[in-house]
Parts: sequence; C-alpha cells; structure tokens
Amino acid sequence: MTSRGPRLRRATTLIAHWKKDQLVFENYFTRRRVTAAPLTLLVLDFFSRWRAPSEFFSRFDNYARPSLALALHQLTQRHFLVREGSVEARRDALLEKVWAPWLPAAGMLQFETRNLRYESNLAAVRRQFQQRASEVAPPSPVKHYREAPQFSLPAPQQSGAFPQVLLARRTWRRFTKRPLRLSDLATLLNLTWGVHRWVKLPGVGRLALKTSPSAGARHPIEVYVLAVNVAGLRRGLYHYAADRHRLELLKRGATSRDVVDFLANQWWYRPAAALMLMTAVFPRNQWKYRDSTAYRTIMIDAGHVCQTFCLVATWLGLAPFCTMAFDQVRVEKELGLDGIKESVIYAAGVGARPSGVDWAPWPHPRTWAGITGS
Ligand SMILES: Cc1cc2nc3c(=O)[nH]c(=O)nc-3n(C[C@H](O)[C@H](O)[C@H](O)COP(=O)(O)O)c2cc1C
Repeated sequence: MTSRGPRLRRATTLIAHWKKDQLVFENYFTRRRVTAAPLTLLVLDFFSRWRAPSEFFSRFDNYARPSLALALHQLTQRHFLVREGSVEARRDALLEKVWAPWLPAAGMLQFETRNLRYESNLAAVRRQFQQRASEVAPPSPVKHYREAPQFSLPAPQQSGAFPQVLLARRTWRRFTKRPLRLSDLATLLNLTWGVHRWVKLPGVGRLALKTSPSAGARHPIEVYVLAVNVAGLRRGLYHYAADRHRLELLKRGATSRDVVDFLANQWWYRPAAALMLMTAVFPRNQWKYRDSTAYRTIMIDAGHVCQTFCLVATWLGLAPFCTMAFDQVRVEKELGLDGIKESVIYAAGVGARPSGVDWAPWPHPRTWAGITGS
C-alpha cells in the first residue's frame, strides 16, 4: 500500500470482542473474522473518516513503514477498511444509510445468519438427532405448573370449516405432478399477500391492511413466485403486485432443479408446483422504528404471513410447506436484490397432494415410518 493510494475508511459493520484471551475483529456483513493485537483498534479508529494512507503513516510514524503498509493491505483485503470509490465502499455507504439505526445488534442477526447450511441427507439428519438425544434428552415441548390449582376447560369446538382447516394444516414433503391451478395460485396470493384495505393516517399517508397482522401496518414482506407447474402460467420468476393483484414477470423459465437449488438441496421439494420467496423490505420498518428491537417485528410478520399461506393452501386442498433453508445468495441474485435494502428471509411452497394419505411429512414412507400420531 503506497502513501498515494486511494483514501480508506473503516467498514460500517465492524465489531471487536474477546474469545478467551484473543481479541477478535469481525466484519459481520462480509463475515470475515481475524484475531489481532489491540493496536488494530487504534488503527481502525483512526480510519473513522476517509483518510489517505500518507496521513496514517505520519500519525503512526513511530512504527516501521513496511509493517504499517502491510497492516493497511491486510485490513483492506479482509474488508475491515474500504477504498474510496470501490464497489465495497458503495455497498458500505448503502449499509450505513439503510441500516444505521439498527446496527450493530439487528445487523449482526441479519447478516451473520445468511445462507443457513442444510443437511439434505435425511438418514444423516436422523442419526444426528438420535445421537444428540442419547447425549442430552430433548427438552419438553410443553410446560406444567403441577403445584398450581388446576381448572378443566370445556371441550373445544373443533367442528366447522375453520377448525377443520387449522387441524388439517401440516407440512408436506411429497407431491404429485398435478399442476397447480392458476385460480388457486391467485387465491393463495391474494388471501395471503394481497392488500384488502387502505387506511389514511393524517399527516403520514396510506397504510395497507392484509389478512395477517403487521407491526405498525408496515407490511415489510414482499412475495416472489417461482412458477414451475402452474396450469395456464408460463414457467418463470414473478413478483406479486399486492395492491393490483397481478404477477409481474421478472425472468422467463423455471425448472424443478431451480426449486432444489433455491432450497439448499432439499430434494424432496423437487415436485412442488410453485415456490413463494418472501423478502423483507427493511426501510419500510426502519422508517418508523428507529430502534434495532424492531428487527423482531419483521421476523414475526413473516411467521404470520406464512401461517396464513399454509392455511389457505390447506383450505384449497393443496400440500403446503415452509422452509428457512434456502440459498440466499442465489435467490437474491435471481431476484436482483442487494440483500441490504431488501433480502430474502423465508420461503414457502405448494404442490398437489398425493392421493390416499392425509399427510406426507417425508418423501418416502420408510423415512417417516417411525413417526406416530395420536
Ligand atoms: C421457521 C421454520 C423453518 C422451517 N424450515 C424447514 C426446512 O428447512 N425444511 C423442511 O423440510 N421443513 C421446515 N420447516 C417445517 C417444520 O419442520 C415443520 O413445521 C415441523 O416439523 C412441524 O410439522 P407440521 O408443520 O406438519 O406441524 C420449517 C418450519 C418453520 C416454522
């Protein structure tokens, strides 16, 4: 690094912490991590604003010039310092602009947890599960206050269309090749993601209302459809315009292979007819909620929406599923998203139910033969 090189600045998404006796520096956006001497803190602090390397060399002139040059080179290579005018600097500026009030806590959660690794070998998953259970018993999924006074409740109402839909909702992982009807896709999209009402908030603007609740009615979740097997709809990648009830074609062509690739190799979803890729448009919530705790609202909103989707699909007699395992980089590339203002956070899908079963939790009966119901 020469003293005449471009100006440098510390990346926005840096944290330092200790792991045992080692000081760790981390860029939680690029997920690069290094251990370094405490002096590195002084260096990074010096680059809190754009500075020329020559300024750095004069400020730290009690150190040998080659070692200072090496430090700058390494910090830049590892994305702890960004070069003025570079792609990284533009991305860093966008991160700062969009995410500033929510950093570092929510940014760490959002960016550190990208691209979940998924084991698609079901036998291996089962073995890991069994191994873990043999070491530590799984915690109970229910809780009781045994000493507290107990009151029996009247029998719940479980008959009627709505309870029947709720009770029938399950995650399906086996499908037939029967195409999804376009009318069913339209109903799924509209009843889950469509805008059904607008309310005016004086001095603020219009708020959209949908079938699921949304914190502050911000509705940060957008949906994109990978249509693979929908009768009357060309295969392709579409965006659902929630206010117009229209599909906007973004890319022609979609295959079952794309489904598996998008879903981190979960091969059992290959015969699905359509994927719903849910993204979060962060500025919608960041505009109103200036504190990072609001990151939770986005995750919770996504949960609401996805449950609505599963229920609508169940009501239509379809086989829905949801998954957090997807190839975020690939999906965002296909959708043309920067992953900063808008990022994919959840995926769901739907296919036709196989006949003769009321639930197919795993692709082959032998892989779920051990599951018993009551
Ligand atoms: C946040 C979330 C992530 C999930 N991720 C996956 C996944 O990656 N792959 C999968 O096959 N199922 C996934 N599921 C489905 C669960 O495995 C399923 O809901 C659970 O086994 C309970 O079964 P049920 O949905 O039929 O009640 C996910 C569910 C949720 C809520």
